[in-house]
Formats: sequence, C-alpha cells, structure tokens
Amino acid sequence: MNDNDTDEEKNDLKNQFVFNINKDLIIDPRHIHVRKLIAEGPYSLVYAGEYQSRHVAMKIIQPMKVSDVIFEHKVKFQREVMLQSKLNHENIVKLIGASVEPTMFLVTELMRGDTLQKHLLSTRPKPLDLKLCISFALDISRAMEYLHENGIIHRDLKPSNLLLTDDKKRVKVSDFGLAKEEITNEMTCEAGTYKWMAPEIFSKAALQIGMKKHYDHKVDVYSFSIVLWELLTNKAPFKGRDNMIVAYAAAANNERPSLENIPAELATLLKSCWSEDPALRPEFLEITKYLKDFLYSTWPAEMKAPEVMEIEDVENKKGEDYRGSGRVKKKSDKRAKKNKSSSLNFRVCFENCFSE
Ligand SMILES: Nc1ncnc2c1ncn2[C@@H]1O[C@H](COP(=O)(O)OP(=O)(O)OP(=O)(O)O)[C@@H](O)[C@H]1O
Ligand SMILES: [Mg+2]
Repeated sequence: MNDNDTDEEKNDLKNQFVFNINKDLIIDPRHIHVRKLIAEGPYSLVYAGEYQSRHVAMKIIQPMKVSDVIFEHKVKFQREVMLQSKLNHENIVKLIGASVEPTMFLVTELMRGDTLQKHLLSTRPKPLDLKLCISFALDISRAMEYLHENGIIHRDLKPSNLLLTDDKKRVKVSDFGLAKEEITNEMTCEAGTYKWMAPEIFSKAALQIGMKKHYDHKVDVYSFSIVLWELLTNKAPFKGRDNMIVAYAAAANNERPSLENIPAELATLLKSCWSEDPALRPEFLEITKYLKDFLYSTWPAEMKAPEVMEIEDVENKKGEDYRGSGRVKKKSDKRAKKNKSSSLNFRVCFENCFSE
C-alpha cells in the first residue's frame, strides 16, 4: 500500500487475506454431501451433512464468495479453525476440517441432540433432573478445565454454544469463533454475549479513547455460573430485561440471578463462580472436583467417593485477604482420608452411571 493508492485500492489490498491453514485440514467441498439447514445466523449457515461416511455439521461463512467476506471475518475464521483443530477432548466438539475456496466453511462432528438452549426451552418450565444437571455441568467444567490448562479462553460460553449428544445425556462445548489464547495483560477487547458476560468485560462507564478493560480466563467461570443457574432453574437469566441493561446491572450494581430454591452447596458454588472479583472465582479444576463431591454426597449409593472438596462461601469472606485460586479446598474429614485413592474408581463409576 502506498500514499498514491485510492481508498478503494487500499480497501482491496486490505481484504487480500492469505490463509495459512494446515494442508491436512483442508477439505475438498465436492466430498461433502450437504443435507438440511440446521441453523442460520448473521454470518453463517450451518448444515447437517456427510463426509467420508461420517455425520458432520458444516458451518458456511457468509457471504458465500470468499472474496466478499470481510478481512476481520477471515482472520476470525482462520483463528477458529486453527484453534479448534488443536483440541482433543471428549467434551469439546471435534473439528474435522475446513475449506477456504470458493467458500469458507468448517466441518465438525454432528451433534444430533441440538443445543442446550433448545433443550431447555423445549422442557421449560419443568426443571431438569438434578443428577442430569450436575452431569451436564461436569461435562462443561471438564471441557473448560482442558481449555484453560491449554491457555485458551472461550469467551462465549452459553447454552446456544453447548451441544448435546443424540441421547441428550452428554454436552460438548462448541463455537470457538471468539476463543483466544490467553496472553497475560493483553486480553482487552469486549467479547461475548451480554447476559453471560463477566462484569469486568463490560465497560461500566464510557471508556476514554485508548483505554481498555483487562480480563483473564476467569471470565469463562462467570459465564459458567450463569449456565449452571439456567441448568438448575430452567429459567431465562434476567428474563424480560434488555441485554445491555443486564450487563450494566451485573457490572455496576453487582446484580445476579436469584438463588431461591437452589440447594445450599450449589448456591455456594454459584456465588463463588459469579464473584465480582475474578480472583475470587474458582478454577475449573476445583469446580469439577466440587461437582463430583456433590454427586457423591447426594447419591452415595450410586457413586464411589472422590476426594472431598469444599468451596468457601465468598460472601462470608469479604474483607479478608483472600486472593489466589484457593477458593476450593480439600476437606480434611475422615471421609476424604478414607477414600483418598478412590478418585479413579469414582471416575469409572461416574462415567458408567451416565453412559447409555
Ligand atoms: N457440530 C454441530 N452439530 C450440530 N449443530 C451445530 C453444530 N455446530 C453448530 N451447530 C448449530 O449451529 C448454531 C451456530 O453455530 P456456532 O455457534 O458455531 O456459530 P455462530 O454462533 O453463528 O457463530 P459465531 O459465534 O462464530 O459467529 C449452533 O447454535 C447450533 O444450533
Ligand atoms: Mg454460537
């Protein structure tokens, strides 16, 4: 680009994005059998189809012609493909491949149970079975634990990005369109969907030019707390209120959904996960252990004991020096000691309990 170029020429040059996607991920569009449309958004169409005898989902970026897709969306697409291709976890939707010419699309395993959002809507107002809620929450927490361990922040955790298996018993995390590798002190732009957005991302006051909010992986713990609340209540969070007003109320007035009728241990977990101060929110590793312990103590006959974990009630800890990731601690009671070596047994038992 040089000073003599017209604005149009400059824009053309800016749009010349050179894709750099591993060759082994590239799929020939002629090998995909496209079946029915399953979702339609402002920037993409999602179809069910078949590829190499597998049922797949195909997310086609709009507009259809790659040359008409804006530069920022090409960057976002490439990041989504490269990031998702590195992930390998049973609770994360598997990327199969992608194409960039003549149309940009990505292909993932097909989740036939649709989204958690649709599942909740279709059963509303009846709450989900509590054991199933905890099982879903554990699936999500395990996936998030894996992402954070690998330095990835999802940034858009919400029921429409959580997909169910055909039997509607397991959940996988999807949509890595906003996911980013965490770079200390550099996570600054606003991201996510307002109702699930951590208060530190939402700007309380108009920010001065050049001033940006900093946040870290704990934004996902906040979003998880809203998802867990939805699982437990099968209600819409902040129902009937405008998205922006909700985000403002959460950030400026520290408003959170009601804890009425939620079992005490889970209310403690929710309060901890949606703490205003991100440093007070637990890590997913701790959340997973806490949920397993809840399962064990609630259905002892069906479960073998995991190590007992305890999440401290942050409400009662205000004013104390309480930083770090130690919100969840091991209980030193006899049960924990007695069952110290049983976590593997627990896992096997747990997985058997929830498989078909
Ligand atoms: N693997 C899949 N299996 C079944 N349905 C899927 C799958 N991937 C996506 N979908 C459906 O398509 C919808 C949109 O997909 P996705 O969340 O990836 O894109 P998006 O939200 O439109 O994109 P982005 O947030 O990246 O702009 C999902 O909510 C879900 O209904
Ligand atoms: Mg989405």
